[in-house]
Amino acid sequence: MTDKIRWGIMSTGYIATEFAKALAILPDAEMAAVGSRSQASADAFGMRFDIPHRHAGYEALAEDPDVDVVYIGTPHNLHRENALLCLDAGKAVLCEKPFTINAAEAQEIIEVARRKQLFLMEAMWTRFIPAIRKIRGMLADGVIGEPRMVMAEFGFRPPFEPDGRLFDPQLGGGALLDLGIYPITLAWLIFGPPQEIVSRASIGATGVDEQNAVVLSYGQGQLAVLASSLQAETPQEAHIIGTQGRIRIHAQWWHPTMFTLSLNGREDQTITVPMGGNGYNYEAAEVMSCLRAGKPESNVMPLDESLAIMKILDQLRAQWGMSYPME
Ligand SMILES: NC(=O)c1ccc[n+]([C@@H]2O[C@H](COP(=O)([O-])OP(=O)(O)OC[C@H]3O[C@@H](n4cnc5c(N)ncnc54)[C@H](OP(=O)(O)O)[C@@H]3O)[C@@H](O)[C@H]2O)c1
Repeated sequence: MTDKIRWGIMSTGYIATEFAKALAILPDAEMAAVGSRSQASADAFGMRFDIPHRHAGYEALAEDPDVDVVYIGTPHNLHRENALLCLDAGKAVLCEKPFTINAAEAQEIIEVARRKQLFLMEAMWTRFIPAIRKIRGMLADGVIGEPRMVMAEFGFRPPFEPDGRLFDPQLGGGALLDLGIYPITLAWLIFGPPQEIVSRASIGATGVDEQNAVVLSYGQGQLAVLASSLQAETPQEAHIIGTQGRIRIHAQWWHPTMFTLSLNGREDQTITVPMGGNGYNYEAAEVMSCLRAGKPESNVMPLDESLAIMKILDQLRAQWGMSYPME
């Protein structure tokens, strides 16, 4: 490995562009290569971000000897196949959320990475955002007493495009895998594995969940009340309520810079935790620090937690009788 960590970027869509912007502000990151389904798109992306190797096709990117780690920004249904392609080529991988379509696919890529002793991580950027880390520290210190309830949601109303990745079952569409994974992650960070899961979903014209509501319950009676929607623009806030007070994480809570602490009998305190860049730089920095330390996975986003969360998503879809065509 050279001094800089050499990144390859797989795909040139929305999130790949955001991720490239994030890498651009990290001095120890080098954008060495990009791979796209089309040469024209790889060239345009390469020009924009000054990336020297511009590949038509993902195989060529995975095989590029000047790449240390590949960032996968393709639709969910391709994550398994794309991750396997990179791992088989001996590359470390940072793969967008949701890690895969289901737990069986997640298990498969985790096993391959572990067998080959290659770094693998799900790009669940929320875990690395400074305000979220601060809140986790405050909870560990008992600032709001013992957390008893989490309420979190993520909803917006995109135009209905049956062939777009948000609605097309072939591309892993639906609110849960795209948005619902965030509130479920927050509940996991606070309460760990749920004891019981109940839910309802509205299945739309294309056969995917256009919105859903989820209640998770835990051993000592704690509750998480969660929702995600492609039909409704929600407040996009999260609330963590404890025995001695509560934290309201302001919109958009999955990459916040501000939260309000309300302690019983005290005046509210609004706390700002600034963020450098667009927020994706923190997960990228974690990957680079793990690679430099020779760690095969991140302590902040462990593979077993990616798998456990995929299992929750599987269970929810099973409750709704919803499966994807590739399952
Ligand atoms: N962490 C976050 O905040 C965040 C935000 C948005 C999305 N995401 C995740 O990132 C992934 C991609 O989302 P996105 O919003 O970036 O999607 P997008 O804008 O549609 O981009 C996806 C890219 O994947 C490639 N691709 C390969 N096969 C494709 C196919 N059959 N249909 C469409 N695109 C295909 C295309 O790039 P080429 O043509 O260059 O190959 C396309 O531009 C999803 O898994 C999503 O959950 C994460």
